[in-house]
Amino acid sequence: MSSSSALFSLALLAALLSVPSSLAQTAPSPSVPSGPPNLTAILEKGGQYTFFIRLLNTTQVAAQIENQLNTSTEGLTVLAPTDNAFNALSAGTINNLSPEQQVQLVLYHVLPKFYSLQSFLTVSNPVRTQANYGLNFTGQGNQVNVSSGTVETQLNNVLYSQFPLATYELDKVLLPAQLFESPPPASSPPPPSKSGGSSTTATAPSTSDKSSGLVDRSWTSGAGVVVGVVLMVLMGGGLA
Ligand SMILES: *[C@@H]1O[C@H](CO)[C@@H](O)[C@H](O)[C@H]1NC(C)=O
Ligand SMILES: *[C@@H]1O[C@H](CO)[C@@H](O)[C@H](O)[C@H]1NC(C)=O
Ligand SMILES: *[C@@H]1O[C@H](CO)[C@@H](O)[C@H](O)[C@H]1NC(C)=O
Ligand SMILES: *[C@@H]1O[C@H](CO)[C@@H](O)[C@H](O)[C@H]1NC(C)=O
Ligand SMILES: *[C@@H]1O[C@H](CO)[C@@H](O)[C@H](O)[C@H]1NC(C)=O
Repeated sequence: MSSSSALFSLALLAALLSVPSSLAQTAPSPSVPSGPPNLTAILEKGGQYTFFIRLLNTTQVAAQIENQLNTSTEGLTVLAPTDNAFNALSAGTINNLSPEQQVQLVLYHVLPKFYSLQSFLTVSNPVRTQANYGLNFTGQGNQVNVSSGTVETQLNNVLYSQFPLATYELDKVLLPAQLFESPPPASSPPPPSKSGGSSTTATAPSTSDKSSGLVDRSWTSGAGVVVGVVLMVLMGGGLA
């Protein structure tokens, strides 16, 4: 008995091994992800998130998300504005923000919980983000809108939705009303601040002085290039 069942096992093994590889690949097998999902890779695959990837990186929020995805029991949701969304902002919108404000802007697009598209339909507003401000979600049918108070747009496309990470495409950057009370003028200097403004804006006391210094430097050079390219494109397009 035992020797025949051993033979049977061997025959079964041989049969399994001889299955053509194409069949073996299409066979339904539970795909076990080897680690937490890689947000940067997901966005790179999307092909239109260069600006957001860069911001995630320079603000070091990308590293924070990577760490959170590995440890969070709630998961995360990332609302990813496209390059067109960033290009549509008036010049200096991002660049005029302090490094800390840039971090807040990016964190405003990260929710500390996994939300399927359906779950946004019944969520209670405002929804907490990883920034200091919340977002409002409204839905109807399959359409979900998100509002920062100053900006409202629709969740266009599901880039990824498998716990612990949900990622949606946005065609607008969500500007927190608290950072953008009124649209910043495109080509005038920032309004003069109170007396002694130069010293108060120099370095805000922060627990992350080292990292904000890094953010500042890398961002400044990057933004210069981006603004330059945008200007060239705009001028070229306008003259053509
Ligand atoms: C995530 O993907 C990016 C781009 O493909 C890669 O540079 C990075 O090393 C990956 N991170 C991890 C933790 O695998
Ligand atoms: C992120 O920044 C590091 C340097 O801080 C750089 O080496 C890396 O290429 C950047 N990654 C992306 C995807 O921009
Ligand atoms: C995730 O956490 C485990 C231990 O909790 C660690 O071994 C692993 O390197 C972490 N992976 C990443 C991508 O951080
Ligand atoms: C979502 O916003 C669009 C405009 O961007 C509007 O036409 C639509 O009615 C809104 N939908 C919901 C469910 O609020
Ligand atoms: C969310 O909606 C509430 C109630 O309508 C409103 O008071 C609040 O300002 C809204 N917040 C945002 C971020 O849109």
